[in-house]
Amino acid sequence: MQFGSIFALLAVFLILAQTFEAKDDNEKKDQELISCEDCKCDQTNPSTITCDKVKFEDEYLTTANLKFTDKSATYKVVKLTNNRIHELNKKQIVPQLVKNVETLDFSENRINAIGENSFDDFAKLKVLKLSDNYLEFENMKNVLTSKLGKHLDKLYLDHNKLETVPDHFFDELTNLKTLVLDGNRDLELTDETFGKGMENLEELSLDDCNIKDLPDGIFDGLPKLNKLSLRGNPFTKIPDVINKIEKLKILDLSGTRITEMTDNSLNNDHSIQHLIMQDLEYLTMIDNCAFCGLKELKIIDFSDCKHLFSINDNAFGSTSKQTPPKLEEVHFENCNLTNLYEDLANWEDLKKIGIGGNPLNCDCKLKWLLEDPSLYTFNGKTPTCAQPESLKDTPLNKANDKVCPQAKSKSKAKINTRVFFLSFVFFILVIAAIFGFIQYTRRRGRLTNVFYRPELPQMSYNNLPANPDLLSENYTYSIQQDTPAEEL
Ligand SMILES: *[C@@H]1O[C@H](CO)[C@@H](O)[C@H](O)[C@H]1NC(C)=O
Repeated sequence: MQFGSIFALLAVFLILAQTFEAKDDNEKKDQELISCEDCKCDQTNPSTITCDKVKFEDEYLTTANLKFTDKSATYKVVKLTNNRIHELNKKQIVPQLVKNVETLDFSENRINAIGENSFDDFAKLKVLKLSDNYLEFENMKNVLTSKLGKHLDKLYLDHNKLETVPDHFFDELTNLKTLVLDGNRDLELTDETFGKGMENLEELSLDDCNIKDLPDGIFDGLPKLNKLSLRGNPFTKIPDVINKIEKLKILDLSGTRITEMTDNSLNNDHSIQHLIMQDLEYLTMIDNCAFCGLKELKIIDFSDCKHLFSINDNAFGSTSKQTPPKLEEVHFENCNLTNLYEDLANWEDLKKIGIGGNPLNCDCKLKWLLEDPSLYTFNGKTPTCAQPESLKDTPLNKANDKVCPQAKSKSKAKINTRVFFLSFVFFILVIAAIFGFIQYTRRRGRLTNVFYRPELPQMSYNNLPANPDLLSENYTYSIQQDTPAEEL
């Protein structure tokens, strides 16, 4: 009996060993031999091998299990893009290169499954791109492990078939700074999606994910988040939870369905510097105090908001006695604006302004824009006037003299005051000089034509004697000795 079972065990063991061996053989058999003729090899730093759209005689590249003909090959960047790879498995991803690879790019393949611990052997992997594949969360269990998480910096999972994010799915990626999940049309996020492990995440992109609203605690585990992109999601208003992101600097809400920028939509985001809201199909108005809280704002971009026709004069808080932000770049190209209010913001640091493609009313209210030479460098399309009729289609920078000709411009008025003041001071000085001269000539007992100007020897300030003794009457006299006083 006992002997029998030992025998059976041995048999099982042998069978197992054989299947393992067979599997090993299989791995090798599946290996695709590849050379720098199939791929582009570039040894300049970072050394890169690009196997894009590889086509052998009559087949496509379907595996990442590549064996390089050049055995000494080491690459930091490996791009296996635009192929037909359908699966990734441990020990079968460019096995020769695991030690040095820092970037792995599998964009545009047909990957629908990734085996457990597939990337654990990559000791230096910083960037992993899996964009444009067929991935679902169920088919990538135990892939984002703590071993990978130790050094992974950027993860791209955009344009896959990711749906409900399993809780704590990303938690082992403790050093991740950038996560891109764009274009997963049925992505479902909860308060648990970005859990405790992601405290280093700085950049999150959730474009085109069909998100209608965001759960209230979704960003609670992301204290360092400073860049958030939510382009192309069907929000009708700015999600409240955005106000809870403490360090947010860059916010992109382009292509959403926001209808109005109301006074508290971004009230608590004091740190936002760069606000991108291009192509808001439904936006018509920017309301009173819409940006009042945003003291750090430097760049705003509302280009291609076709229906935007009104910006409240106090949108940045300038008329409610708040300090408006010092904007550096302003984009309102291709909107439906007729004007841009001079006191809207602080234009002191402005470097770029784009207002081409708007039906501008070139009246006195717009004159300021033409006066400041630093604003002449309009960005992109040259703005033209739509009104008044006489200036229709005239480029704004050529209309300067014709825009509001009756009103004296502010800056000119400023210059005029200065000129007036200087002339006044000059006038007083002249009077004083004449008076002094009269006094002087009287004292010398020579009441003569005060307007007579003796020909003094050329004398610059530096030639004046430093010795005060020389400034005595004698010295003065000696100068005058040369003058033809007798002729008078
Ligand atoms: C632009 O605004 C005018 C009114 O100022 C309106 O008649 C026109 O329909 C608007 N155009 C668009 C594209 O919204």
